[in-house]
Amino acid sequence: MSVVYINGEFVATDQAKISVFDRGFLLGDGVYEVIPAYSGQLFRFEEHLLRLQTSLDAIQLRNPFDQSQWHNLLSQLVQQNYQSDLSIYLQVTRGIAVRDHAFPADTQPTVFAMANPISTLSDQVFENGVAAVTLPDNRWSRCNIKAISLLPNVLLRQQAVEQGVVEAILVRDDHITEGAAANVFIVEAGTIITPPKNNEILPGITRDLVLELALQHGLSVKEAVISLEQLKNANEVWLTSSTKEILPVTNLDQTPVADGKPGETWKTMIQVYRDYKKSLHDKAVTI
Ligand code: PDD
Repeated sequence: MSVVYINGEFVATDQAKISVFDRGFLLGDGVYEVIPAYSGQLFRFEEHLLRLQTSLDAIQLRNPFDQSQWHNLLSQLVQQNYQSDLSIYLQVTRGIAVRDHAFPADTQPTVFAMANPISTLSDQVFENGVAAVTLPDNRWSRCNIKAISLLPNVLLRQQAVEQGVVEAILVRDDHITEGAAANVFIVEAGTIITPPKNNEILPGITRDLVLELALQHGLSVKEAVISLEQLKNANEVWLTSSTKEILPVTNLDQTPVADGKPGETWKTMIQVYRDYKKSLHDKAVTI
């Protein structure tokens, strides 16, 4: 049975408990991270921890651990659940308090972390890509915080799934923001474009890595507002996230994207991404 971390202890999944008065449970008052661990190595750990700190600061919650404490904790979790590829979920909530919207200054944060198997892209995705729909972005205006209160994202993803597709691409004031749980890229006339970082999107770790690697490999990249019309006319559309890596969208709103097959730029990018992952793994093994 897998093991989870809860408030200082590693316990079997069915032994993990939190109080019903936890503000995470009652109010969704907390933040989270999802960090891949490939072959036992935490991927882009520092970047994830930096974003965790930004999210904690945004909700005025103190970080219960420093970076090396987090590293020890999550590495132990990886070891105890070892499988070649895992996605580590961690969440920090404001802890236990009498229910009130305003929060007391001195609660003890609740820390929970678990490890789940992560699947790599299937051959079918490589051949066909995936389908998505556009939906109005009806979330709040602080989407840059990785908050556990995900009801709007849940309902948007559910609408997409009920339409038989994998993701909703969200539209606000005629421009696209991101997916329900992913960032969005398009390729237009050979240039890779993704929306700029602001309060309308989560600053994805995969997004940043894709931009970084694309630049390193001499690909043309740009952070710019993408209109709905641009999305509809794009040569390629991608979704990125820690659990999905770079996913080619080949059908949008029941219409094929370009020729309805994963594009050449995606093929280059996914190879670059995989080579980068492999280089980290090789480095870790030889140390
Ligand atoms: N979600 N935007 C949203 C709204 C997300 O929920 C996610 C990831 C991303 C991509 O971020 P990253 O590349 O750092 O994973 C963008 C995670 C995987 C989740 O909620 O499970």
